[in-house]
Amino acid sequence: MSDPKPSPNDIMAKIRAQKAAVATAAGAGSEPTAEPKPEASAAPAAPAAAPAAATPPRSPADIMASIRSAAKPAAESSAKPAAAKPAAAAAAGSPASILASIRSAGKPAAAATPAPAAASSAAPAAPVAAAAAVPVGLSPAEMIKAARNAEAGAPVAPKVVLPTKPLPGKAAPAAAKAAEEVSRRSVVGSVVATLFSPLVVAWGSFTAAAAASGLALARFMMPNVLVEPPTKFKIGPPTDYAPGTVSTKWQAQFNIWVVNSDVDGVRSIYALSTVCTHLGCTPNWLEGEQKFKCPCHGSGFYKSGINFEGPAPRPLERVGLRLAEDGMLEVDKSVKFQRELGQWTNASSFVSTG
Ligand code: FES
Repeated sequence: MSDPKPSPNDIMAKIRAQKAAVATAAGAGSEPTAEPKPEASAAPAAPAAAPAAATPPRSPADIMASIRSAAKPAAESSAKPAAAKPAAAAAAGSPASILASIRSAGKPAAAATPAPAAASSAAPAAPVAAAAAVPVGLSPAEMIKAARNAEAGAPVAPKVVLPTKPLPGKAAPAAAKAAEEVSRRSVVGSVVATLFSPLVVAWGSFTAAAAASGLALARFMMPNVLVEPPTKFKIGPPTDYAPGTVSTKWQAQFNIWVVNSDVDGVRSIYALSTVCTHLGCTPNWLEGEQKFKCPCHGSGFYKSGINFEGPAPRPLERVGLRLAEDGMLEVDKSVKFQRELGQWTNASSFVSTG
């Protein structure tokens, strides 16, 4: 029955046991044993496993150096070629073998070859130490490089991870937009708070009330002027008004009719007011009927202005009329002439053309 191939953990346990034995011998004043016997690799390693387990964790480089140094005598002695074969392969120094050795050292002891209880209990200490010595986050190539550097005595540079910081002036658009939105909201909020503060509201109300009072005072100081047409105006020469006709030319503008007719046997031109003597409506001149007809209550007036039907109690009124120096007829609405009062005989109430 042939022995199974020793695992890296077994080899490391052997190495530690041997070193512990050498250290014990040196402490006792005896000469260190040059080379441990291969036959004692499995069983004698158990008693020395306890002190080896107390040793501090070692780096991968140390572990690999120990593996290589242990592999050499094993190969030279040729006591057990099968056991020395893995160590010799690891001593070849290929990246694959180094990486496999480091990784196999991290496996739990249950996968290792059955060994005495003491050796099995001491085996997990080495994988833990090896795993702790390997920097976290390195790729296989970096692990191999670190192991080689450690072997050559160069310090292992820790892996530096630079923080991801945006360049100045190239901030993320979303972050810049959010910052701008926050700034705009803060400005709007401050403006609203200022506008609706009690002090501002009070002063604004006072200012508005003072302005309204000033405007009301200014309006009170101004007179209520009613813009009316002039009371005196010229309506052209007498020849513009043919005998026996009623002119409604000035009805809309000056509220008068100009009549050229015979009054008491005298041909004259006079101006009648367009205000009905009943309730103030404006009658219409009916050329076919030769009369003024009020649309409100049906009062009728002759061409002369005398009432003859309807509720109108008296004749229409005349306004002042005279022949101006320039030969134009001039109307003066500031004066009225009533027939019932005998005022139509006043010379200012007509212009004689006969
Ligand atoms: Fe002219 Fe009454 S107002 S008839």
